[in-house]
Amino acid sequence: MYKLIDGKAVSEYIKNSVKEKVADLKVEGKEITLAVIIVGNDPASRVYVNNKKKACEYVGFRSLEYALDEQTSEQELLELIDRLNKDKSVNGILCQLPVPEHIDEEKVIDRISPEKDVDGFSKINVGKLWVGDYDLAACTPMGVMELLKYYNIDVNGKNCVIIGRSNIVGKPMAALLLEKNGTVTICHSRTKNLSEITSQADILVAAVGRAGFVTADMVKEGAVVIDVGINRNAEGKLCGDVDFDGVKDKTSYITPVPGGCGPMTIAMLMNNTLVAAEKQGEI
Ligand code: GUN
Repeated sequence: MYKLIDGKAVSEYIKNSVKEKVADLKVEGKEITLAVIIVGNDPASRVYVNNKKKACEYVGFRSLEYALDEQTSEQELLELIDRLNKDKSVNGILCQLPVPEHIDEEKVIDRISPEKDVDGFSKINVGKLWVGDYDLAACTPMGVMELLKYYNIDVNGKNCVIIGRSNIVGKPMAALLLEKNGTVTICHSRTKNLSEITSQADILVAAVGRAGFVTADMVKEGAVVIDVGINRNAEGKLCGDVDFDGVKDKTSYITPVPGGCGPMTIAMLMNNTLVAAEKQGEI
């Protein structure tokens, strides 16, 4: 019988612990601020940004939103980041991705001061993650690690297979699992014999971006299956990368979509913002 990993409950637990610390800081007259930049009108990005603002409100952060027009130039965006970098009252900065095509995403990410880079996407923070000396790492994989910890799922010596090699999920996920002594394999679109590799996973992380991609034949009996995907199926219903109904009975633990990794990403963003403020010596 599998156990459902309740990302909503764990995310509430994390947000409540941030909220408690924020309340204590308020007594001392200290406030934490997260600046969120969104460029253009991507509907999914709008939903994410709204959810991030709501979470800020919940934990007691001040949130600043900079909603920029689709036509905003790269230079204008970089100048805004420069201003926020200099602003001592701002502890965390994130630019919701994707940015419009005329803007170089990499330049934007690396313009954010590493101390305020609460997404953990900048080259400095990625490098720090890979040498095991980091404060701010990508929120989604950090959320997965929190889920594993909460359910006492030991990574040490386990075969961990990640499907997907993105900078936002797959690669930082590999670094974090490796840090916990997992034996890590990253699979991607060019991987040969994919199901042969995934079938050996004790912990399987799906971050492909394709609905129902992971099917029962790809999963080992008793595996822990973590579904990072957020897709919409033909009926417009939210679903993950894993064929949940087909796979669940083979697993020991599995995350649902929604209610698995999604809420954890935002909770870890709140935690990262608190960590950033602490490291800046502001609190
Ligand atoms: N777009 C999709 N996921 C993310 C994320 O975690 N952070 C930012 N900034 N943009 C995203």
